[in-house]
Formats: sequence, structure tokens, C-alpha cells
Amino acid sequence: MAAGVRASQPQVLVCLGVLLARWVAAGLEALVIGEVHENITLHCGNVSGPRGPVTWYRNDSEPVFLLSSNSSFPPAEPRFSLADASSLHIKALRPWDEGNYTCREVLNETRWFQVWLQVASGPYEVEVNISSTGRLPNGTVYAAKGSQVDFSCNSSSWPPPMVEWQFQAPESSTEPFGNNLTVSSFTLLLMSQNLQGNYTCLATNLRSGRQRKVTTELLVYFPPPSAPQCQAEMSQGSLTLQLTCRWDGGYPDPDFLWIEEPGGVVVGTSKPGVELLNQSQLSDGKKFKCVGSHIVGPELGASCVVQIRRPSLLSEPMKTCFVGGNVTLTCQVSGAYPPAKVLWLRNLTQPEVVIRPNGRYLITQNGQSSTLTICNCSQALDEGYYVCRAENPVGVREVDIWLSVKEPLNIGGIVGTIVSLLLLGLAIISGLMLYYSPVFCWKVGNTFRGQDMGDVMVLVDSEEEEGVEEEDAEEEEEEEEANEREESAEEICKHGRVHRVTALVNGNVDWMGNGLQALPDDSSEEQSDILQEEDRPV
Ligand SMILES: *[C@@H]1O[C@H](CO)[C@@H](O)[C@H](O)[C@H]1NC(C)=O
Ligand SMILES: *[C@@H]1O[C@H](CO)[C@@H](O)[C@H](O)[C@H]1NC(C)=O
Ligand SMILES: *[C@@H]1O[C@H](CO)[C@@H](O)[C@H](O)[C@H]1NC(C)=O
Ligand SMILES: *[C@@H]1O[C@H](CO)[C@@H](O)[C@H](O)[C@H]1NC(C)=O
Ligand SMILES: *[C@@H]1O[C@H](CO)[C@@H](O)[C@H](O)[C@H]1NC(C)=O
Ligand SMILES: *[C@@H]1O[C@H](CO)[C@@H](O)[C@H](O)[C@H]1NC(C)=O
Ligand SMILES: *[C@@H]1O[C@H](CO)[C@@H](O)[C@H](O)[C@H]1NC(C)=O
Ligand SMILES: *[C@@H]1O[C@H](CO)[C@@H](O)[C@H](O)[C@H]1NC(C)=O
Ligand SMILES: *[C@@H]1O[C@H](CO)[C@@H](O)[C@H](O)[C@H]1NC(C)=O
Ligand SMILES: *[C@@H]1O[C@H](CO)[C@@H](O)[C@H](O)[C@H]1NC(C)=O
Ligand SMILES: *[C@@H]1O[C@H](CO)[C@@H](O)[C@H](O)[C@H]1NC(C)=O
Ligand SMILES: *[C@@H]1O[C@H](CO)[C@@H](O)[C@H](O)[C@H]1NC(C)=O
Repeated sequence: MAAGVRASQPQVLVCLGVLLARWVAAGLEALVIGEVHENITLHCGNVSGPRGPVTWYRNDSEPVFLLSSNSSFPPAEPRFSLADASSLHIKALRPWDEGNYTCREVLNETRWFQVWLQVASGPYEVEVNISSTGRLPNGTVYAAKGSQVDFSCNSSSWPPPMVEWQFQAPESSTEPFGNNLTVSSFTLLLMSQNLQGNYTCLATNLRSGRQRKVTTELLVYFPPPSAPQCQAEMSQGSLTLQLTCRWDGGYPDPDFLWIEEPGGVVVGTSKPGVELLNQSQLSDGKKFKCVGSHIVGPELGASCVVQIRRPSLLSEPMKTCFVGGNVTLTCQVSGAYPPAKVLWLRNLTQPEVVIRPNGRYLITQNGQSSTLTICNCSQALDEGYYVCRAENPVGVREVDIWLSVKEPLNIGGIVGTIVSLLLLGLAIISGLMLYYSPVFCWKVGNTFRGQDMGDVMVLVDSEEEEGVEEEDAEEEEEEEEANEREESAEEICKHGRVHRVTALVNGNVDWMGNGLQALPDDSSEEQSDILQEEDRPV
């Protein structure tokens, strides 16, 4: 019988179920798997009904008595006891308990049963070692994108376990990583972002089915690809300066440090890289440096600098507008960083009034150049000082522009010229008369000559003035010529006076002329500035 048992040893665990059924049917042999430290019960055959006296043996090379249902024979070890009158109960299984056990039952006939006990142990622990770039304070490991990462997994069990790695990317299902890895270590040469996720090492004891696994989250970090960008802008009106540091494209987000340069005074540290500074912290020309640091970025961080500047203003000091005409005042801001806010104010009342665009005022802003166009000039309403104010959190600059509103002067000028010509003719006639009869008119001639000379001088001035007045004057000349004959002696007189006033004003106009001459230069400069600004890449 024992020979028959020996002949039908099971070789493959997978076939156990089939064989077990056959052996049980034959009342021959069973396979039982127990785990170390646990209790196990070996049954003496699978039979029901009354049982006879039972004796248990262990037979390796030769049978060794273990236990009997006859209480006069004590068990070989206290760990052995009889359960259900026939089964062998072993407490706290040990590795060396593995082996073949035989029970003998004596009833009408003596029957033998064999039980093959296999003992499994573990795995109880799994050791995972991921040679990553670093470890976060919370224990999570991270690797720099593109780096090499070694994974190894160790676990011990009896029999030795099957070890496999699994990978789970965020929001996707678990997949066996790579091949069916029976080796417990592998290397990923070039980490990429889609390899971020949970790595699980699973160790399985194929005999007992006991599994242990360790899941490690691995983050794949990479620094922003380009340099950080600094920016300063106004916020909350013009009272506060907002420094913004952008350094995008990395993972995770970098940290920022704003420091004053030179001196290195720390202005602030914040995750989004935004700092608000009030005016007391600002002065013209001050520099602020943003240092961005990334966990896998350059060791010293990457930086950018902004220099803040208060605005400078460029504008013509005075402008002239003719009644009913239009005039444009220009104000060019330069040097301001952050870009200044430009306001036009009317310096008439206290406090000054900000000019809002309406039907008569047109304000246009082109980059840092602002223009105020006043339509339909009126002497009473529009003459006076205008203020162009540019402000940013670093400073405020104002420039006053004097706008004079004039009646068109040219009627007086033209008529005055004609009167002067008449007087000149008169003077020549007088001179001729004096030449031919000096006695007759000596006294009168003297006085005439004096007046003549005065008039000639005025005439010259008047022409100069017309030259200065340029196009505006020329346009109106035609109308004036048409009206010219209707003017009475009184008007001529009046114009004569106006004429002289003009000559007087001319003195101013010369002075104004200097201002105006400077003007085209300024405006050409302004234009080139604007062009430069537009050419500048953004
Ligand atoms: C084994 O059995 C004993 C009593 O017979 C019990 O105290 C112990 O807890 C059991 N051990 C296990 C692992 O079940
Ligand atoms: C005994 O064998 C029968 C079928 O032959 C099976 O149903 C039963 O579960 C077995 N009992 C034990 C304790 O193995
Ligand atoms: C186990 O012991 C019994 C009784 O002595 C014997 O008949 C049998 O051949 C032994 N089996 C093995 C596998 O040694
Ligand atoms: C137990 O064994 C002893 C000694 O062999 C024997 O005398 C006794 O009759 C046995 N008892 C039973 C119940 O078989
Ligand atoms: C138990 O017996 C089987 C044959 O039935 C044999 O193949 C196996 O090696 C034995 N186990 C031990 C531990 O001796
Ligand atoms: C034992 O033998 C008797 C008589 O030979 C028989 O009646 C009885 O059924 C048998 N018992 C078993 C369990 O085989
Ligand atoms: C992990 O592996 C690296 C090399 O692969 C080795 O230097 C290091 O000692 C290991 N760490 C542990 C805790 O096993
Ligand atoms: C650890 O911190 C990182 C970054 O803050 C986070 O992504 C990760 O989920 C954290 N891990 C644990 C276990 O808290
Ligand atoms: C590994 O291969 C074995 C046998 O081919 C198979 O039973 C097991 O399921 C496989 N494991 C994985 C994770 O593919
Ligand atoms: C890893 O697993 C933990 C727990 O299940 C989960 O919170 C975490 O989001 C997972 N991480 C990734 C990258 O999938
Ligand atoms: C003044 O400006 C207004 C509105 O822009 C325009 O309609 C008008 O023709 C302009 N007048 C002169 C004299 O340029
Ligand atoms: C207006 O401008 C003049 C000239 O710059 C200046 O003296 C005066 O103080 C200003 N008036 C006001 C109310 O600002």
C-alpha cells in the first residue's frame, strides 16, 4: 500500500486539486500547506462516521511516533494534540515540520492515510530602493526628467517569492511594468513625465499565496525651459508697485525671492512671485532682482532684474491757437518704468481739474505719448496753463503748457502794409516836393520824414511776423484782400495801432519763435522715440 502511495506522488502544485480529489476518493494521500507560526490540522482521511483508535507517525527516513488516541501514550511534543478524535493538530508551525505524515486507523481493518505537509513562510517585508534624485520632506521621492532611475525590490520568503513591479500612472489602471519581471531590479534610463506615478513592488509566495507589496510614488520634476521674466506694473491707482516674476513651464512651480539691488535686502518670498511695494520703498533708479529657484533647476537659481524709473516729460512750453481753430498739445513721457499714467489738467482752479475727453477735448495716447486736442478754441474758456502730469509709483512729473488764444491778426497786417505803402508814396512825393521847393515845405517835410521812417520799421517787423505765423496767416490772407477796400480810415488807424501792438508782440513772438523753433526739433525727437518704442520687441 505504501508503495502505491509512493508511486503517485504529486509533482506540481497546480495539479494538486485534481490529485487531491483522486487520492481522497482512494483514501490515500493529501497535501496540506501551512504557514510558519500558525496552527494546522491534518485529517486522517476524509471519512465520516465512527472512528477507531488512531495513531500518527512522521515518516521521513523511518517512521517516528507522534501521537495516539490511546491516552496511555503521551504525544511526542506538547505542540501535537488530537482534534475530532482522529485529526492531528499542530500548534505554532515550524519550518522543520514540513514532511510526510501517516495516520493508522484500526477499525474492522487497519487503514493508512498519508498527508504531505508543506510549510510556507512569508513574505513579511518588501524592501524597495529607488535611486531617485531626491526625497521631499513628506517622504515622496522625485526624479529629474531625463535622469536615470534604478529600481530594486528585495523580499525574502520560503519558498523564494516571485517579485514583480507594477506601474500606475495618475488616473489610469495598474499595468505590469515592462515584462513579467522575475528579477527584482530594473533601470529606467530616461525618465519622462508619463513615467510619473505609483510604482508597486509585489512579492508573492506562490506556495501560500501570501502577498506583500510596497507602493512608492515617484514624481518626475523638470525646471522651466527658459529664463524668468521680471515685470513691474502699477496697481491700485498709482500708489503701489507690483513686481511680477514669471518662470513658467516647470514642474512643480518654482519659488521666488525678490531682493533689492544692491544691498540684497529681501523684499519678499512668495510662491506666485508677486510682490506689492508701497511708495516709501521706491526710489528712482532702484533695482529689484527676482531669483527663481526650482527643486531640479540650476543650483544658484535663475534671475532677472527690473529697474524702476520715474517719468521724464518733454513738451512745448507754449502753444497758440486761433479763435475757432483747433490746437493739439503734446506731452511725451520717457524713461518711466513702470509705464506712467498720463493726465491732462487745467490749471485754472484750485484744485486743478482733470480734463476728460468730451466734444471739445480729444485725448489720445500712443505708447507713452499723449496729446490733448482742443477744438474750437475760445479765448475766454481755453487760454491759460495746461498741465501734463505723468505719474507712476516712483514719482510724479508735471509740465505746464501755456496756451494763448489769438484773434486772427492778419487783416491788420495786410492793411497795415498797404497803409505803409501809401505813406511811403506820400513820403517820396513829399521828398520830391521838398527837393524842388525846399523853402516851401521844409518844416512839414521834416516831420513827415520822421513818421515815414517809423512806419517803414513797423512794416519790416510786420512782414517778419507774417513769416512766423506761416500757413495760418497765408490761408486767411485771401479773405482779407477781399475785405481790404471796405475798411474805413478809422479801421486803418485802428490797424495802425494794432500794427504797432503787433510789432510789440513781435518782440514776444521772436521769443516765442525760439520756443516754436525748438518745437519741431522736439516733435521730431518725439517721433523717433515713438518709432523706437514700436520697433522694440514686446
Ligand atoms: C493556535 O492555537 C492556540 C490554541 O490551541 C491558540 O491560542 C493560538 O492563538 C492559535 N494560533 C493561531 C495563529 O491561530
Ligand atoms: C471529503 O470528501 C468529500 C467528497 O469526496 C468532500 O465533499 C468533502 O469536502 C471532503 N472533506 C474533507 C474534510 O476533506
Ligand atoms: C511511512 O511509514 C509507514 C509505516 O512505517 C511505512 O509503511 C511507509 O512506507 C512510510 N512512508 C514513507 C514515504 O517513508
Ligand atoms: C492502550 O495501550 C495499552 C498498552 O498497549 C493497552 O493495554 C490498552 O488496552 C490500550 N487501550 C485502548 C483503549 O486501546
Ligand atoms: C513526501 O512523500 C512524497 C511522496 O508521496 C515525496 O515525493 C516527498 O518528497 C515526501 N516529502 C518529504 C519532505 O519527504
Ligand atoms: C465491520 O465489520 C462488520 C462485520 O464484519 C460489519 O458489519 C461492519 O459494517 C464493518 N464496519 C465497517 C466500518 O466497515
Ligand atoms: C539603494 O541602491 C543604491 C544603489 O542602487 C545603493 O547605493 C543604496 O545603498 C541602496 N539603499 C538602500 C537603503 O538599500
Ligand atoms: C508629498 O508632497 C508632494 C509635493 O507637495 C505631493 O505631490 C505628494 O502627494 C506628497 N505625498 C504625500 C504622501 O503626502
Ligand atoms: C508572469 O508569468 C507567469 C507565468 O507565465 C504568470 O502566471 C503570471 O501571471 C505573470 N505575471 C504577470 C504580472 O504578468
Ligand atoms: C499614488 O497612490 C496614492 C494612493 O492611492 C494616490 O493618492 C496618488 O495620487 C497616486 N499618485 C499618482 C501619481 O498616481
Ligand atoms: C477741428 O477739429 C474738429 C474735430 O476734430 C474738425 O471737425 C474741424 O474740422 C477742425 N477744424 C479745423 C479748423 O481744423
Ligand atoms: C499754474 O501754473 C503756474 C505756472 O507754472 C504756477 O505758478 C501755478 O502755481 C499753477 N497753479 C496751480 C493752481 O497749480
